[in-house]
Amino acid sequence: MFGCVAVPEAGSAGASCDFHRDGGGADRSARGAGGRGLRCRGFLFAGGCPADSGGAGAGGAAAGRGGFGRGGRVGAGAAGRHSGDGGLSARGGSGTGAPGRGGGGGVLLTVNGRSCEVSAAPVARLSEVLREDLGLKGTKVGCDAGDCGACTVLVDGAPVCACLTPVARVAGREVQTVEAETPDLARLRAAFLRHGAAQCGICSPGMLMTAAALLARNPAPTEAEASEALGGVLCRCTGYRKIIAAVCDVSGLAVPAAPEAAPVGQRVVRLDGAAKVAGDLFGADVVPEGALVVKALRSPHAHAGFVIGDWRGWAEGRGVAGVFTAADIPGRNAFGVIPPFADQPALAESPARFRGEAVALVAFEPGAAASLDGFPVDWAPLPALLDPVEAEAGATLHPGRPGNLLIEGRVRKGDAGTALAASAFVVEGAVETAFVEHAYIEPEAGAAWMEGDILCIRACTQAPVMDRDDTATVLGLAPERVRIVPSAVGGGFGSKLDVSLQPLIGLVTLKTGRPCRMVYSRGESMASTTKRHPARLRGRIGCDASGLVTGLEVEGVFNTGAYASWGPTVANRVPVHVTGPYFTPAVSARARAVHTHGPVAGAFRGFGVPQAAIWQETLYDRLADAAGIDRLEFRLRNALRDGQASATGQVMRAVGIEACLRALKPHWLRARTEAAGVPGRGVGVASCWYGCGNTALPNPSTIRIGVTGAGEVVLHQGATDIGQGSNTVIAQIAAEALGVPVGSLRLVGPDTALTPDAGKTSASRQTFVTGRAAEAAGRSLRATVLRLANAGEGARIGFGGGMVRVSEGGTVREIALAGLPVDGFGYALSAEESYDPPTVALDADGQGSPYAVYGYGAQMVELAVDPQLGTVKLLKITAAHDLGRAINPTLAEGQIEGGIAQGIGLALMEEYIAGRTENLHDYLIPTTGDVPPVESLIVEVPDPEGPYGAKGLGEHVLIPTAPAILNAIRDATGAEVTRLPALPHRVLAAMREAGR
Ligand code: FES
Ligand code: FES
Repeated sequence: MFGCVAVPEAGSAGASCDFHRDGGGADRSARGAGGRGLRCRGFLFAGGCPADSGGAGAGGAAAGRGGFGRGGRVGAGAAGRHSGDGGLSARGGSGTGAPGRGGGGGVLLTVNGRSCEVSAAPVARLSEVLREDLGLKGTKVGCDAGDCGACTVLVDGAPVCACLTPVARVAGREVQTVEAETPDLARLRAAFLRHGAAQCGICSPGMLMTAAALLARNPAPTEAEASEALGGVLCRCTGYRKIIAAVCDVSGLAVPAAPEAAPVGQRVVRLDGAAKVAGDLFGADVVPEGALVVKALRSPHAHAGFVIGDWRGWAEGRGVAGVFTAADIPGRNAFGVIPPFADQPALAESPARFRGEAVALVAFEPGAAASLDGFPVDWAPLPALLDPVEAEAGATLHPGRPGNLLIEGRVRKGDAGTALAASAFVVEGAVETAFVEHAYIEPEAGAAWMEGDILCIRACTQAPVMDRDDTATVLGLAPERVRIVPSAVGGGFGSKLDVSLQPLIGLVTLKTGRPCRMVYSRGESMASTTKRHPARLRGRIGCDASGLVTGLEVEGVFNTGAYASWGPTVANRVPVHVTGPYFTPAVSARARAVHTHGPVAGAFRGFGVPQAAIWQETLYDRLADAAGIDRLEFRLRNALRDGQASATGQVMRAVGIEACLRALKPHWLRARTEAAGVPGRGVGVASCWYGCGNTALPNPSTIRIGVTGAGEVVLHQGATDIGQGSNTVIAQIAAEALGVPVGSLRLVGPDTALTPDAGKTSASRQTFVTGRAAEAAGRSLRATVLRLANAGEGARIGFGGGMVRVSEGGTVREIALAGLPVDGFGYALSAEESYDPPTVALDADGQGSPYAVYGYGAQMVELAVDPQLGTVKLLKITAAHDLGRAINPTLAEGQIEGGIAQGIGLALMEEYIAGRTENLHDYLIPTTGDVPPVESLIVEVPDPEGPYGAKGLGEHVLIPTAPAILNAIRDATGAEVTRLPALPHRVLAAMREAGR
């Protein structure tokens, strides 16, 4: 059970059926006034869009981008994709406007067994009618273009994209959404929960509906059949394996109850899972009554001066409630996740420094057409610096940053040059990676309203307290006057650490005194939010005759884009991690973050470490070959061990890399034997390590647990759960420490007014840092109870019926909670504890102890390369990860599988190009057909600093995948692909270079 915030929610309008919510809304005729332009080009697809059209026809798109089956999405896209610029235009329209919904006659349809009449234009998107008119928010919108499948519903039993289906096409037909109560859906929901198939949950409705259609015609699908059927629905979190397993295991088994005792280590079903499989409420799904609709005018240029003209004439008759520019910002027009580097304006003052930067806001009355077409702005394009090396010699983007250098990170240990000169073997190499888009299925969305003089913002975020502080700064408010209430988050992976629309909707509400809402279009989301840093790394690694690494030299340039975001973190983290989890006696590592007019590069699962691992791990294979040593054995020989010093001089403990490599060894031997002599078959291995939490900076989390007078135990858990499972894991830890069943806790989720600061969800810190705070709070409250009852540590405690009961040695003591004084939070008993990891700051040479806990892992990839096409077929990935202690093995496996899927994308298909790949049909992410079977090997080397020994996991799991794939391609073909993604033409070119 979760706490919630009271939002003055709008009703649905224009529908005469039971879904109609109280509160009404704008008059239907008014809503349709102005006639929004038709964007929907698709119609109801025979054979199903996207979910059911199967993977057979995937070759066209696939062959061009890596040989991957695209499932039904190819078929869907062919009929339904938008042309144009992904929502951005020279006139700056953000393009989220849907076809006009209102203004038409009534459309009769049956939804989930109930007949409805909606007043909507015939061309209105079915998704909008379901969501806005009927209040069925379980149908999600991830792209409005037929690419993601999140909007999949059933029409007469067949799956269709509701975003591409004009409502008139379903007149008189049966529509079924995720809100339907059918036996198949009930069994599917239970299977999804049992298998941990829903992480963030934004794709779950589309997956469930697609699976329901499959089960209706095939009650016992094979894995291949399920994979094919689900091929048109994108999931960015899970790696699909658990979804497919759930669909193949719709047994009718009940969802297991949470364990009564000792929940740590148990496969507890996610506590927020029921909401996920029912269509959770994300940023776009709660709309305050009478909310204005906010649209952002954005730069269509990478670098351009601009002048906003007199908009008053333009606004006339368009239902415009206000237009806002940088001049309207009452505070400091600069935000940033690292305050000393904060440099990004909420609304740009001329010039705009990247394509997609917001320059003005227009707030429309509810029901207005909400189109920015014709908005008066004059653009004056300026020369754009897009290459970081050229930018180092170009005009500066920001005063005080000569050479466009944001920051340089470095680590120096010993004399690497001398060590390399004395080495028996030295290999040298360079790699280059691209901008990579997070591609979460939920575009940014949220709403703002006033509660007295408090500005409330409900939005998707990974960092509510940072959002509060940044928003308050921009709006010139004291932080206490801003309340951030995170919605469910439909994926984040780092990008939702930076504020996006929070200060924008905050500004509109502050200026108008009215509630407002904003939903980014897919193109707007992709153009305006952060990306993984493109990196160029070049350097050398050497070893002695016995294969022991002697030294490493590397230089990296990271394109950090127009603003700072997490550039400093990346530049500092890379030199610390670039040795990999191996003992390296001499190190010289430098990483520069350089500004360009490219997209802002920020946090993305790994903060630069995945790019560094690609360089280091591919060179390790070459070095092992030069030394004549088996590649896995070479890594084992060099693996860091307890008591050895890292590159920063930190003496390591609880090092798990050797255990991970040993866990892989039998699989390695088997796979090498199977691949031997088979043309095109290859096996690759790579490792990872990752320091959990901030790099040598304060990083505290605080957890509060309270007991009400009635005996209810309330966990104030401020860590945002973006799908990784902190709602469940932190509760398991707290329950274990307190000694109560995890199911007995009531969770109050993140809310800056209700939960203490648990820090941001990033850098694999929540299980470790917030987990330690939860453990401490649980132990503290338990100690209080035991003291009250004068009982020993072994006593059992329980709460309920206004009592706390303490059982010990056959006696039971009861204490009436009503008799205890109530504290400032209204609790009879409570505990609040903080934890901040002990670290030692890095000196000028990068020497120190930047992290208190590290996690480790190693992955092995088996694949086949088509020598004619250069396409890569992944056959299996085996992943060994040291978690210290697996608090919840099911959730841990889900993280591993999901991270691997993102690593596959990084290696083989993903490249964000501003202006060209701002949608999910030009920017490809892995589908069901792209993720091979994954075998997870959970290794537990407990860390004394972690809660119950636990280490972080979220970032680690992506890091080894790409280098292991590249190493397997080299093993298969001899090709050294050094520019990512490894598209077929790059593989073929590398094969030619290798003489194959
Ligand atoms: S396919 Fe309809 S929202 Fe993406
Ligand atoms: S669980 Fe599928 S997108 Fe998050």
